[in-house]
Amino acid sequence: MIEQQLWHPVMASNLVRDTPVACSLLGQALVLWREHAHDGHRVHAWADRCPHRGAKLSMGRVLIGLHGTRLECPYHGWQFGGAGGCQHVPAAPDFVPPASHRAVAFEARERHGLVWVRLQPASQALGHVQIEPPAFEPAEDSAWRTVLCGPYELNTSAPRLVENFLDLSHFGFVHEGWLGERGHAQVQTGVVDEGAGLAGLVVRDARAWQPRAYAGADEGAWIAYRYDVPHPFAAILRKDATEGDPVSNAIALFIRPDGHEICTAWFVMSTQGDTSTDQELIAFQDAVFAQDRPVVESQTPRALPVGRTAPVAEVHGPADRVSSAYRRYLNRLGIALGTC
Ligand code: FES
Ligand code: CO
Repeated sequence: MIEQQLWHPVMASNLVRDTPVACSLLGQALVLWREHAHDGHRVHAWADRCPHRGAKLSMGRVLIGLHGTRLECPYHGWQFGGAGGCQHVPAAPDFVPPASHRAVAFEARERHGLVWVRLQPASQALGHVQIEPPAFEPAEDSAWRTVLCGPYELNTSAPRLVENFLDLSHFGFVHEGWLGERGHAQVQTGVVDEGAGLAGLVVRDARAWQPRAYAGADEGAWIAYRYDVPHPFAAILRKDATEGDPVSNAIALFIRPDGHEICTAWFVMSTQGDTSTDQELIAFQDAVFAQDRPVVESQTPRALPVGRTAPVAEVHGPADRVSSAYRRYLNRLGIALGTC
């Protein structure tokens, strides 16, 4: 499966501290833990299963000692070093564990305040487009203020949520009075650049009418957005400041596909010019997400019906061009999988 070869966010970095933590990615149970080393505190992501007798390593402890940092299994206390190999078996202290006595380790990185994991190395076809987790420049630029919102656990597939994020035409209904008005429901879908091969989408100049153009504004206006979809389960929205609107916003949606019909989302929100506090920004995003949640969880099937083998068909309107392009992107990735 191609998803195994992509980087996915799995947890906020600041939640991986001195104890191991568990999560699920694409049905794979993971344990995350942090190794304290002289050159920094590296995060590790391993299968949450001890190679000895299968206990959950996430129930164990992180030991910091003379030999460096080790993860200790809760069952018989075997100790594993950062590279995954067993270093010590307390019940047989003279035993030197062979190389086969090791935890299953996956690649892990930290970016945008999140830990990212890839379950398999990328195949050659994917290598050049998915070498790294998706970029989100505002979060790395101190000229912007950035907050992390989430996690939001959701009973649907990651693509349903991406599609919701790309969809301006629900604003007047799901977010009436917040992001739209039903009396101003018309949208402009903008210019969609579908990219080629495995590259994602760019949408420029998508427009919706919003009752408050920005935090603090007291009138409505047409707002222009740019969307980037650099990854099948990630999308970035940007609204740049204009004359009369002093606020620039950039919001990245990053999603962990826990399984095929359950996912966990974060929004990395960056702003220039918004005077609300961090807590107010997070509270606003929480409130908007709470409006989306019931309707998105009500959609059936939970997996997007993409491709010829989809179990049901959905019909499209002219305002669905971005969603249709996104579905074609997913379809292209599926086709690429068949050939690589
Ligand atoms: Fe982990 Fe035995 S099951 S040490
Ligand atoms: Co919404």
